[in-house]
Amino acid sequence: MQIPDALVDEMLKAKRVAALTGAGISAESGIPTFRGAGGLWEGYPVEKVATVEGFAEDPALVWRFYDERRVNMRNARPNLAHKILAELEKHYDMWVITQNIDGLHREAGSKNVIELHGNIWRVKCTLCDYHGENRETPLSEIPPKCPKCGALLRPDVVWFGEPVNGVEKAFRIAKESDVFFSIGTSALVHPAASLPFIAKDYGATVVEINPQRTPVSVIADFIIREKATVALDALFRELYKHKK
Ligand code: APR
Repeated sequence: MQIPDALVDEMLKAKRVAALTGAGISAESGIPTFRGAGGLWEGYPVEKVATVEGFAEDPALVWRFYDERRVNMRNARPNLAHKILAELEKHYDMWVITQNIDGLHREAGSKNVIELHGNIWRVKCTLCDYHGENRETPLSEIPPKCPKCGALLRPDVVWFGEPVNGVEKAFRIAKESDVFFSIGTSALVHPAASLPFIAKDYGATVVEINPQRTPVSVIADFIIREKATVALDALFRELYKHKK
């Protein structure tokens, strides 16, 4: 595939680069996306498994949902797209702002990562201040209990209606970036979905990488209708030719 020369020029000039990523970037690591045919939300009522109210009503149901996702994710490894974004940290003031909870950006080596929606491998207590990592798959106890106080643990992820993590920093990064990528997200869930629009308003070149059209397509300066691995590989090869 061909990367437009004008995009390569923008990347060669850029100092601050950011990427908003969504489930699509991890699809090629074998993790299902949420929306569309076969998407995760097709089989599960969102309000039952991804809200505080749903958890209060039936914590075991919510934990079974997350346990199943954790089992499906445990063998997933970062793909070329995650790795290229990590590599770009060597060349740019680079930030990854992800909606994904799979931890694959950090595993790929990215250090500047904001996990807006939390991380499926972390847990926190519903009562005390305990929070920690838990990689047991499948869980031996559902719902799991706090090792400190015995109360219910919950996944350290952000559910619908809850404030997202690091939102102020994410907005600041969007405002300050020279090139802002929107990769593998349907750009429907706010506030994450606002970030490409903020970046554009503040003068960034906005690049969408997604096989499908999204609301970001309307304002994107460049649109690459390819899978994330294919598009980022092609872009990185072009940059490498220029030794950036
Ligand atoms: N490369 C790039 N994009 C892809 C690929 C791929 N290989 N495969 C699929 N996509 C695109 C789809 O076209 C779609 O636009 O990824 C997008 C996935 O969209 P969603 O399933 O809606 O995932 P996401 O945007 O991350 O959802 C946002 O919604 O329910 C919540 O909390 C959940 O963080 C999630 C948020």
